[in-house]
Amino acid sequence: MDDSVKTDSAKYSLGAAGPAERIGLRRRYPTIAYLRRRARRHVPRFAFEYLDGGAGADGGIARNWRALDAVELIPRYGRTTALPATAIELFGRPYAAPIGIAPMGGPAIVWPGADRCLAQAAQLARIPYALGSVGGMTIEAAAKLAPDVLWFQLYRFADHGHAVGFDLARRAEAAGVQVLMLTLDVPVRTTRPREVASGITTPFRPGLAMALSMALSPRWLRALWKNGNPRFSNLLPYLGADATLAQAALFVRDRMRGAFTWDEVARYRERWKRPLVVKGILHPQDAEKAVALGVDGLVVSNHGGRQIDALPAAIDALPAIAAQVGTRATVLWDSGVRSGVDVARALALGASAAFAGKAFLWGLGALGEDGPSHVIDLLVEELRATLGQVGAEVADARTVEVRHEGALRFEAPSPG
Ligand SMILES: Cc1cc2nc3c(=O)[nH]c(=O)nc-3n(C[C@H](O)[C@H](O)[C@H](O)COP(=O)(O)O)c2cc1C
Repeated sequence: MDDSVKTDSAKYSLGAAGPAERIGLRRRYPTIAYLRRRARRHVPRFAFEYLDGGAGADGGIARNWRALDAVELIPRYGRTTALPATAIELFGRPYAAPIGIAPMGGPAIVWPGADRCLAQAAQLARIPYALGSVGGMTIEAAAKLAPDVLWFQLYRFADHGHAVGFDLARRAEAAGVQVLMLTLDVPVRTTRPREVASGITTPFRPGLAMALSMALSPRWLRALWKNGNPRFSNLLPYLGADATLAQAALFVRDRMRGAFTWDEVARYRERWKRPLVVKGILHPQDAEKAVALGVDGLVVSNHGGRQIDALPAAIDALPAIAAQVGTRATVLWDSGVRSGVDVARALALGASAAFAGKAFLWGLGALGEDGPSHVIDLLVEELRATLGQVGAEVADARTVEVRHEGALRFEAPSPG
């Protein structure tokens, strides 16, 4: 790394660790790929398989990565001698970087206490943190830890006139959540084979192999002892306080879906007065539909390759969707971030910010509590170095010339 980057990034302290610890972490884990390798050995097998495994034979994950690697940024020199700043505004709020933590269910399986670690790291770094509706922390607790950066993701709980879904949105509003994200891209439940083969099933019946792999992960066990079993904390008010984890898992299996209809999006739009985002868009006409219903933003995403492995890479769908939406809504993107270079690619192709899921879980799996801040540090530094190299700022990243042969081209809609 060039000296000016070192000096600059040392000043730019986003993480929780002190300067000496941060240098140590950077030496041992200079990229997110190092964290992934370490996580594989550091947490029980089922925890790693849960986080790392995709649909089918991981083909969707591989496609996301391949498609990102194929996006080339063409540099322009002689424009600037300084590394760019990364601060941005999203939905009228300031954030330190165009990088967010994607909503996730069950991060506490990967590292007990993970939801708290993610919320704290995001607040410290001032980057968006999206709590998942099946995450392991209540909206109210998250709002205490991350008051300036909290977003909330909702799946579809449609029973009794959407009673649970509407109540979760009411609680989010009362807690001060800034952005509500409705996930659209889980219309069916699909299987992630690595997860099933490692013993994560509903109903949940832990076996001997699971117990053994926990015993072989003493730091993970210590975190479990300190934080307790993972829970579906947000759902407990609808289940009864003494509901077991198995009962909660059955409730989620039977009552939760991820496929809001457009009519339902419109109903949430009527109720939720703050910024509303739909997550999981891969077609410009779906983006158009969302914009027509008055959403403020959308996330171009293939759910990180976790649904089926025939979906296109989200990065390949991004330019057409960004062109369709223009300035009528904020275009966000996720699915495949392994570095700040990937974030820069997404900005160049029209996203206002990129979210990462697995990268944060690899950080947690490798480093426990210190993981999320180290991931943020790496992503921000790599983003600045990439933009600095190609002669761009965050604000004008979309003017960077790009070679993107995989970009999807959609037929123009027929009139009427
Ligand atoms: C373990 C795990 C759990 C997830 N749970 C949810 C969820 O509850 N709701 C949701 O909208 N997306 C969920 N996602 C998808 C992420 O929000 C995001 O779209 C995806 O992880 C982005 O791809 P990446 O992992 O390659 O960064 C989950 C992803 C992972 C890895």
